[in-house]
Parts: sequence; structure tokens; C-alpha cells
Amino acid sequence: MALERIKALLQEVIGLHPGSIGDASIERAIHHRMKALGLAAMGARNERIYLRRIQQDKNEFDELVEEVVVPETWFFRNVFPFEALVSYLPGLKHQGAGERKTKILSLPCSTGEEPYSIAMVLMEEALSVGDFSIDAHDVSQRAIRKAKRAIYGQHSFREEYRGLRDRYFQRTRAGYVLDASVKAKVAFSRANIITDDFDHKRSTYDVIFCRNLLIYFDRPTQARVLKKLHRMLKPGGILCVGHAEAAQVTRDYFSPLDFSMAFAFSKVGEGSEIFADGPPPGNRFFTQDGDTLKDLQSTFHDLVGLVEKDRAFGRRLSRAAPAAKAPTALPPPKKKTPAKTRKGQQPADGSGPLEQVSTYLQLGRLKEAATLCENYLKQNPQSETAYYYLGLVGLRQGSVGAAESLLKKALYLDPAHHQALGQLALLAEKRGDAAQAADYRRRQKRAMRRHAGGKE
Ligand SMILES: C[S@@+](CC[C@H](N)C(=O)[O-])C[C@H]1O[C@@H](n2cnc3c(N)ncnc32)[C@H](O)[C@@H]1O
Repeated sequence: MALERIKALLQEVIGLHPGSIGDASIERAIHHRMKALGLAAMGARNERIYLRRIQQDKNEFDELVEEVVVPETWFFRNVFPFEALVSYLPGLKHQGAGERKTKILSLPCSTGEEPYSIAMVLMEEALSVGDFSIDAHDVSQRAIRKAKRAIYGQHSFREEYRGLRDRYFQRTRAGYVLDASVKAKVAFSRANIITDDFDHKRSTYDVIFCRNLLIYFDRPTQARVLKKLHRMLKPGGILCVGHAEAAQVTRDYFSPLDFSMAFAFSKVGEGSEIFADGPPPGNRFFTQDGDTLKDLQSTFHDLVGLVEKDRAFGRRLSRAAPAAKAPTALPPPKKKTPAKTRKGQQPADGSGPLEQVSTYLQLGRLKEAATLCENYLKQNPQSETAYYYLGLVGLRQGSVGAAESLLKKALYLDPAHHQALGQLALLAEKRGDAAQAADYRRRQKRAMRRHAGGKE
């Protein structure tokens, strides 16, 4: 029967499983297109004509695709993955002139709200996240066109998020017009995850957002798509899916990350030698101090999953990266601190020793990162940034107790340290202390507002 063959064609080309949106919706879309072509009268004959038409005319097939896809999306849809990015990326980023930027993929991007949300959040965190670019694809040409135009109605703003709408959009008669600086961060193009091979994009992305797409596919198609995404991710890269899709993510290829409600996974399965050589040799903060050692030991077993992922990631990156010099000596202190640099903060030009710490963190060279921080603290004992980075080292080593006290130390030195607040909120969430987590989140929001100049 022609109608069934049309549905099968849709499934073959864009993956749409009829059960996902229902036969009735697909048939409505087909009949809508038939009507547009003057084939209004129902019946098997016209359906056969329409089947022949879409087999021969790619444009008409694309029109049918436009009719059946569900482009539903909005800014900061389920905010947790965006929060997780902010927490995760500082450890991933590559810094320094000429080095690569963080590469992100949003697929499907629909009308652009998702990739633009990522861009805004990361622009807010430029200091800790560094430079980045986003590729965004969708099978719908109409959606891509709207995304490039970047003018949105009220309906696209269903979640309040840090007042970013007021900061990055101009309200006009036509709608909310997105700032050019955000648009410049996202490259849109039409692509079909089912038929495009993406082989040229092997190991390209640090982060992939693929949310609310797998739900439209059957199991075998989901598995094929997840394999493709796995290939496109860099080792240690992260994948965010929609909340209804997390259960479908193959554990052979991905391992769940510890960010509650973010539905985030890290890439595994390519030469990971998890915990092959034991914990790294210690630093003052993590293994010589009696209390922190106890912390490390008592939390070690609970956190094996997290540690495994982070260390395997670190080793894979280290292997791929050129050897970096050991941080035996600090660069000579700078004579002048840039006007906008607060105490203990690295200069924004990326030249400070804490920039080097960040690079070590991203390379998984935790011992070197910690040594550099400790040396830095000898000269700058009030550096909240050094304590914050040491806290990140602690987290990556699985020393949660020590990490938490270091993050609190950063917070003590700078009560508006929003990244430290974010990490502390995540730790509180992880141990199930919802009230404490909510308190940190409230403070983080306040700090973010202040950080952004009170423009929220
Ligand atoms: C519900 S939206 C999700 C948008 C966004 N990721 C979000 O979560 O808000 C689903 C999108 O998937 C796109 N889509 C469906 N099949 C696709 C395919 N085979 N390749 C690429 N995009 C596809 C649709 O055009 C639609 O815009």
C-alpha cells in the first residue's frame, strides 16, 4: 500500500519511526502535501501518484520532511546540561595562542535556540572556558533558515536563565533579535544524521548536544546514530541527550557523567585503559595531609566511576599531546598587573602561570597542575583561582573531601566565585543534600549577576 511505502521511505531516509509520532500524524502530513499538489481527493490512486512523485522529486520529498519533523525547541531547554558544560569545560579547554578552541556540535539544532543557548552560556564563562565554536545541523531547511535569521518570539523563552535574554537580545517589532556576537559563534548547515556520513568529522568535537532526536528512531537506528556520534567525539568528549533518551545510550561507547539531570555521557571504548597504573603520585593537598588522605580513602570507592573516567580521559589526551615541560619553576613575577586583574587572578592575555595550570588540567596532568598551583600559592597565598584549580585537581583525583575544602577556601577568599559555587552545588547534589545545593545555586546566580555587571 502506497501510504505504508511512503512511511517506510521516511523511516529509511530520516529515521522517523512511525510509532514515535503516530501513524495519524504522518498520514496528516502526507495528505497535507498531497492537497498542496492538487491531489486532495483521498484514495489509493492519489497516494500512489504521490509516492511516485516523492521517489522522483527530491524537493517534494524535502517538503514532506518539513511537514513531519517536530521542530519544538526553546532557549535553555532543561538548563542542567548547560550548567554541566560550564562546570566541565574548564578542565577540557586548550589554552594559549594558536591552540585549538573547544568544538561543539548541536545536532539537531532545529531553529537555533539550543546552539545559541550554548554560545551565550559559554560567552558568559569566557575566562574559564576559553574560545569555542559551534557547528549546528538539522535536516529541516526551514529550521536552519530561521536559525540563521535569529529573530525569536516570546514562545522561545520558556525558561528564565540568568537574564541572558535581556543581555543578548534586542526587543524589536519583529521579535527578539539576537546579538551578532552570539550569531558569529554558530555555523549552521543542513544535514541528515541518517544519510550523511560525517566521516570527515571523526574525533572533531569536545561536546555534542544531540537532544530530542533519538526518541523519533527505532532501536537499531538509535544504535547506528550513537555510533556516528561516538566517532565524531574526541576521546573524553561529552555527549548530552534528552531526558527520555538517556536509557538508550549504549554503555559500551559512553559512560554516564555525574551531573544530575544533565543526561551527559563521556566517550569511552577507544583504547581506554582504566586505572591501569594506580592513582597518580600525590601532592601536599591530596596525599600528605592526614585529613585529606582520610577523605581520599573514604570517598575513593564511591567515586571510582568518576575517577576512572577522568583519569582515562587524561591519559588518552596526554598520549595524544606533545610533551609539555615539567613545571619546575614559575615564570618571573610580572611587574605590572593588568588593570582589570583582581588579586590572585590570571591575566586575561593567557600568559599567567594559572593559564598553564588550566592547560595541565585539560591534558589530565594533574600532578603538574597541583605542583604549579602550590608554587603559585607560596607567592600568592590569597589566590582564590589557585585554590579553585586545586579543587578541580582534587575532584579529578576523586579526593572529594579535599576538593570541597579547597573550593570552600576559594569561596572564602572570593565569596562571589561563581565557578566554585557551581562545583560546590554539584557536590552537594551528588551527596543528596538538596537544601545545601539549592543554597549554593542561589548564591551562584547572585554571583553571576554581579559578575555580569548587575545587568540581569
Ligand atoms: C524536537 S527538535 C530538537 C531540537 C533541540 N535539540 C532541542 O532539544 O530543543 C527535533 C529536531 O530534529 C530534527 N531531525 C529529525 N530527523 C533528523 C535527522 N535525520 N537528521 C537531522 N535532524 C533531524 C527535526 O528537524 C527537528 O528540528
